[in-house]
Amino acid sequence: MPTILITGGHSGIGIECCKVLASKYKYNLILAGRSPERMENFAKELIKSYGIKVSVLAMDTSSLASVRSGASNCQKMIDKGEVDKLMAIICNAGVRLNGAPTYTVDGYEETLATNYLGHALLLELLVDSIADNGRIVFTASGTHDPDTADGKMMGIADEYDAVGLANTGKGGAKPVSRGKLYATSKLYMILYAYELDRHLRNAGSSILSIAFDPGATSGTGFLRNMPKPVQWLAGSAFMSWVLKKSGVTIGDIKFSGECLARVTADPEYANGSGKYFQTNDGELTERRSSKLSYDEERAIKLWKDTKTLIHIQPNEGSLKLR
Ligand SMILES: NC(=O)c1ccc[n+]([C@@H]2O[C@H](COP(=O)([O-])OP(=O)(O)OC[C@H]3O[C@@H](n4cnc5c(N)ncnc54)[C@H](OP(=O)(O)O)[C@@H]3O)[C@@H](O)[C@H]2O)c1
Repeated sequence: MPTILITGGHSGIGIECCKVLASKYKYNLILAGRSPERMENFAKELIKSYGIKVSVLAMDTSSLASVRSGASNCQKMIDKGEVDKLMAIICNAGVRLNGAPTYTVDGYEETLATNYLGHALLLELLVDSIADNGRIVFTASGTHDPDTADGKMMGIADEYDAVGLANTGKGGAKPVSRGKLYATSKLYMILYAYELDRHLRNAGSSILSIAFDPGATSGTGFLRNMPKPVQWLAGSAFMSWVLKKSGVTIGDIKFSGECLARVTADPEYANGSGKYFQTNDGELTERRSSKLSYDEERAIKLWKDTKTLIHIQPNEGSLKLR
């Protein structure tokens, strides 16, 4: 049975997505993440409930060394025939941090490293292990778009310089806010998804690169780093009503997870490469992402800066993406 690798599959939207991939689409799964016990427990549940094969892969997306080691272990599993070639990689792990910037072992601001840089490296290392007509799916966010209520609520994503952003707040400089860092990490994911699509098309590849927004979704671990009253309010029916009235995109944990599975596996989205899909109030639709996200010049600069930040080596990276 074909296999799908998902980061952050053992929590929130990822759990619901995995259940649909297993039950409706019958895929085997690789859960990649930094919480071995939670992943093992969820893997057992999936195996018992759906009879699929589930592997667990240690990978902290905020650490370049951990992503390299995880990708290498995944490649070994494929080479040994323990798992089939990948039908998809879902870049779903993500954090919305709070307070002053924190830095990863590589010295990068943690939001940007976790949400964006780790996934970019993972794809560089594993894109050649994706089967023909396979898919790469990015869990982005409507907060990337400053012209929407989602974007205005989170902090405006508009940073051009990824290298500067990864080092924000260092040397006594005023740091970019965490909300803005989150929104910008998601803008970067979408710029990267579209640039990846262009590279894949130029290389004659049949692999798809798709961006997805699950909508503002309560009941996940997303706000776990926010103050308790914010977490409580965000989960209330009142807040859901307020957000809807304010024009914020509304997700639902089960439905958003199902939609992530659909854009990853359903034949209906076989022409979805280079496109942005969004869950809003019970519907999954294709829509335009932010104006900035279509800026090809910006995407090319980001693509190059990203390779610098992830320290891509001459023997790494895919031929398809050069
Ligand atoms: N909920 C929303 O309103 C919303 C809206 C738009 C987009 N999103 C996006 O949807 C995705 C899923 O979020 P969610 O709402 O389901 O939240 P969640 O329950 O907190 O899930 C996030 C997942 O990311 C993993 N993760 C975080 N940091 C990691 C790291 N350094 N290395 C590896 N894995 C890491 C977490 O693993 P651990 O258990 O180890 O922390 C968890 O499995 C995220 O990308 C988020 O940005 C969410």
